[in-house]
Amino acid sequence: MCHPNPDPGDMMTIATAPKCMQCHSAIKTDSPAIQKLAAFAKNDREIKWKRVYQIPAYVRFSHRSHTGAGATCADCHGAVAEREQLARETDLSMGACMNCHRLKKVSIDCGFCHDQQPGNQ
Ligand code: HEC
Ligand code: HEC
Ligand code: HEC
Ligand code: HEC
Repeated sequence: MCHPNPDPGDMMTIATAPKCMQCHSAIKTDSPAIQKLAAFAKNDREIKWKRVYQIPAYVRFSHRSHTGAGATCADCHGAVAEREQLARETDLSMGACMNCHRLKKVSIDCGFCHDQQPGNQ
């Protein structure tokens, strides 16, 4: 509910303020943060957020194909449900991608995650 995954499913996004207010019109209404959120919803403003994880654009990655294959958010992002604040706490380097692919018997061919370019073979 908080991180919709719009088509084609590569990216996770963040819910709009009115969506948050489906819960927060009744939860923690006395919190200054939630009052700010309510004002955002009322004024149709987007919630600003900071990117925590990012891989370079030359790497192919889709959230939907991974969640569809049974990978959980915690597999790649750690124990987020227990955190007050998020920080980068897991390794999402090429080696980490490859470790899981080896374990799950998924391809580790270069062209699986990188576009093949002339002279790259
Ligand atoms: C499914 C219901 C639900 C949705 C949707 C939801 N929240 Fe919450 N939110 C909660 C609950 C439950 C708590 C924890 C309340 C507690 O600690 O007692 C919480 C706590 C918070 C707090 C901490 C408030 C404080 O002062 O302790 C913030 C900030 C917050 N939510 C922001 C958001 C934002 C931004 C969104 C939308 C992106 C959102 N929430 C969507 C249920 C929800
Ligand atoms: C297989 C590993 C993996 C899984 C599973 C995964 N993520 Fe991610 N996540 C990543 C990677 C890699 C990035 C950086 C993507 C990029 O830079 O394009 C990322 C980025 C994000 C971002 C920043 C926006 C974006 O899409 O780049 C959010 C938010 C996010 N993940 C939330 C989630 C949530 C919520 C779940 C569970 C429903 C989840 N992730 C499951 C690996 C994963
Ligand atoms: C937790 C285990 C896990 C991790 C970590 C993981 N993968 Fe995967 N990946 C999978 C599985 C399982 C599949 C097979 C999905 C299917 O069969 O549709 C897959 C499929 C893929 C595909 C092909 C599907 C598509 O979307 O085209 C690509 C590309 C890919 N992974 C890239 C990555 C990259 C890049 C990373 C690191 C940032 C990564 N994976 C990390 C388990 C993982
Ligand atoms: C499972 C996905 C995956 C596969 C398979 C894969 N890579 Fe990568 N590769 C990545 C990711 C993710 C990064 C970005 C790592 C980062 O910046 O944190 C990357 C980065 C790179 C870089 C840039 C490194 C740097 O330090 O700038 C090169 C070069 C590269 N890969 C080559 C290859 C070659 C050659 C192969 C085949 C042997 C390969 N990759 C297979 C996911 C993959």
